[in-house]
Amino acid sequence: MKEQKMQIIITKEEVESRIRQIASQLNEKYKDEKLYLIGTLKGSIFFLCELAKQLTMPVILDFVQVSSYGEEKVSSGIVDKKLDISCDLEKQNILIVEDIIDTGRTIQYLKEYISEKNPKHLEICTLLDKPAHRVVKDIVADYTGFVMKEDKFVVGYGLDYAQMYRNLPYIATIEE
Ligand code: IMP
Ligand code: MG
Repeated sequence: MKEQKMQIIITKEEVESRIRQIASQLNEKYKDEKLYLIGTLKGSIFFLCELAKQLTMPVILDFVQVSSYGEEKVSSGIVDKKLDISCDLEKQNILIVEDIIDTGRTIQYLKEYISEKNPKHLEICTLLDKPAHRVVKDIVADYTGFVMKEDKFVVGYGLDYAQMYRNLPYIATIEE
């Protein structure tokens, strides 16, 4: 395996502090209301867990797995659903929890897919936003952890490169 050069761009402390801020916004907005967190596997799991632990309203967790990437760093443009949501989302408050919005195709697909289930309210929360590659121009997250100014491939805090590095407790750029 080739050696991968990594550089930390967001520390563990920075990620966790930002997640606490997002959680307090959500706690304010959904006070006393039930909130369904729909995590996108596998990338969002660390973000979703950290966020969920800070929430004070009744929370229900569910997951969906879609893929548009394969093993490559460049999006194929095709979104394929591998694992479906198991809860009934009709008339519920839904928060889609994503690791990163890159081209925007995944989130656009999920937004349409979940809208068809007639939720009461649907919002999008992403840990990272990488606007450089955006194909779906009108996609905006309601809650964003960090906007990446540079067009770099990142790993850690759930994000992978060929399924590796998800367990890093920080976010780092990776280069060969
Ligand atoms: P989109 O459909 O192009 O917006 O891609 C979203 C998905 O691509 C994310 O959920 C990630 O799994 C993956 N992705 C995009 N950029 C990166 C990156 O820099 N590192 C790791 N995964 C990424
Ligand atoms: Mg991924």
